[in-house]
Formats: sequence, structure tokens, C-alpha cells
Amino acid sequence: MQTRKLGRQGLTVSALGYGAMGTAMAYGPTDDTESTAAIRRAHDEGVTFFDTAQMYGGGAGERLLGHALAPIRDEVVIATKFGVSESWGPDSRPEYIREVVDNSLRNLNTDTIDLLYQHIPDPNVPIEEVVGVMKEYVDAGKVKYLGLSNTDEESIRRAHAVHPISVLQDEHSIFARDSEPLLPVLEELGIGFVAYSPLARGFLSGAVQSRDGLDATDLRNRIGWWAPGNFEANVEISRRLGELAASKGVTLSQLALAWLLAQKDYIVPIPGSRNQERVAQNVAAAGITLSEEDLALIAEIAPDGGVGSRTI
Ligand SMILES: NC(=O)c1ccc[n+]([C@@H]2O[C@H](COP(=O)([O-])OP(=O)(O)OC[C@H]3O[C@@H](n4cnc5c(N)ncnc54)[C@H](OP(=O)(O)O)[C@@H]3O)[C@@H](O)[C@H]2O)c1
Repeated sequence: MQTRKLGRQGLTVSALGYGAMGTAMAYGPTDDTESTAAIRRAHDEGVTFFDTAQMYGGGAGERLLGHALAPIRDEVVIATKFGVSESWGPDSRPEYIREVVDNSLRNLNTDTIDLLYQHIPDPNVPIEEVVGVMKEYVDAGKVKYLGLSNTDEESIRRAHAVHPISVLQDEHSIFARDSEPLLPVLEELGIGFVAYSPLARGFLSGAVQSRDGLDATDLRNRIGWWAPGNFEANVEISRRLGELAASKGVTLSQLALAWLLAQKDYIVPIPGSRNQERVAQNVAAAGITLSEEDLALIAEIAPDGGVGSRTI
């Protein structure tokens, strides 16, 4: 698979990564054996970039990923995140960052975290102080590159002034477009962009046809795209995008991922799937090039992205 550079500090990863959130939370019941097989399949298909977070199962997601990647640890880039409390609020107090990052190193069973993100901003802790703690780990050789997630221009600039930031991770897909105004800032500062939920949490996979049948614990029950009214409009957008994909002999998820890869050469999408066949299908999107005509048709079908809010 082709590689992409994230930032100017030397971080290079496969053009498509693997997002491990679903292996520990968010999308209903999971099977660790299947998830492990999906992670290893991603690597077999050329993925070298794996994303997790301390909040995914309170460390369980990191342990699963660390275990799955142990035999190939030296061949992959592992990213994790701190900054979310047990009650899912912001918590980037320095002592909590240190506790969480030390746990992440243990959970992932590694001496070094390749890429460490602040997961969400904390209004109670200045970003300079947060990056100062992250820098301690770089200086100690326990973290290689730094990233931010779900944040704004001012915080990116202030953080980058303390220590180079290599990556911004934010939601981005044909459905989620609100991070686009940040792209010029990333270009100016030389920061790469990791696109999370690139399949719009499954909407852009063709698998979403009905609101019924979601497990009660499924996060999507609370997301705006799934609200009555919005949901039906989004199914229709997905149906039209699916027709375009079929006319090109590709799947909807492949179209959605190829669209992201076509936006900028510093964007790396990290789709998540707990099923190895679906992983292989998604990874194949790295070999698909969309034409200007395809991109124009997608813009016509989904000019403003999905209908409703992408958030809870
Ligand atoms: N920084 C943040 O705040 C943040 C927030 C959200 C996510 N993320 C990261 O981004 C990663 C990806 O995002 P995501 O998992 O939310 O959403 P996503 O990749 O947009 O979609 C995942 C959903 O799509 C399904 N799916 C994937 N490929 C499919 C295919 N080919 N056909 C049918 N269904 C398919 C998955 O189900 P199956 O597993 O059953 O295949 C899962 O339900 C996460 O794993 C996480 O690492 C970060």
C-alpha cells in the first residue's frame, strides 16, 4: 500500500489506517477473537497504522490491540489518546495524563507509543500545560509524535508553539464536513490529518438500512444522523452514493474512503471494522482513484454532507 506523511517530523504511515474503537465500544457486542483476526488481516493487507484510545473500554481496547499487534510490533505505528475521564468528560490534568499514559504503555505492552493524542480539549487546563506534559514523554523516549483531536484553530496554534504537532485527528467523511475550514491551518503549519469515522459510523458502508435492530448500547442511537427524519434522508443519500459506487464496480465504503484519499495527500482515513472480510474490502479502497467527474457527482449528491448533526 502507498504511504502518506503525517506532519513534518518524519511520521509515515499506510494511506489507510485501522480504527480499533469498535473492538471495545460503540457499535454493539464484540468478539475478541474476530476483532483480533480483523486487526491482523488489516496488517496482512498492508495497513501499518493502528488507532486506539484509553477510553475505548477503559484500557480493554488498548490491551486487545497490543495483544493482536505484539508479533508485528516493530512493523506498525500505534496511536493512542488520553484526556477523557471515566464519566466521558474532559480530563487533561497533568497528573491524570501521566496516570493514563503510563497505563497505555502497559496496556499496549510497548516501550514506546508512536503517536500520542489529546483526545478532547479540556477547558480547565491550558493547552500549553497539556503539551508540556506530552513533551515530557517525548523527551523520555516513551512517545515519538504528538497529535490533537476534536479541537480548534487556536488550540492547534498554541500547542504547536510548545512542541511540533504532527497530526490533527477529527471526524471527516462525505457526511462530516465541518473540519474542512481547518485544512488551510494544517497546511500552513505542516500538520497531517487523520480522518476518523470515515464511513460515517457505518452509514457510508451500505450496511445501514433501518433504525431498528441497533443494540441498546449502540452509540448511534444518540447521533443526529440517526434521528427520525434525518435518518431517512441519509439513507437516501447513501443509496444514491451506492448507485454511483456500483456503476464504477466498487462498494460504497470503497467510494467513501477513495473520496477522502482524493481530498488531500496528507489525509489518512482510519475506518474501523471487526470483520476481516470487511477490513479487506475497505483496504482495497487505497487502490481506487476517483475521476473529477466522480468527485463532482459526489458533491452533487451530498453537497452539505449528511443531514443532521454528526454528534450526540
Ligand atoms: N478521535 C475521536 O474522538 C474518535 C471518534 C470516533 C472514532 N475515532 C477513531 O476512528 C475509527 C473509525 O471510526 P468509527 O469506527 O467510529 O466509524 P467508521 O469507520 O466510519 O464506521 C465503523 C462502522 O462501520 C461498519 N463497517 C466498516 N466497514 C464496513 C464495510 N465494509 N461494510 C459494512 N460495514 C462496515 C463497522 O461495523 P463492523 O465492525 O461490524 O464491520 C462499524 O459499525 C475508530 O475506530 C477510532 O479509532 C476517533
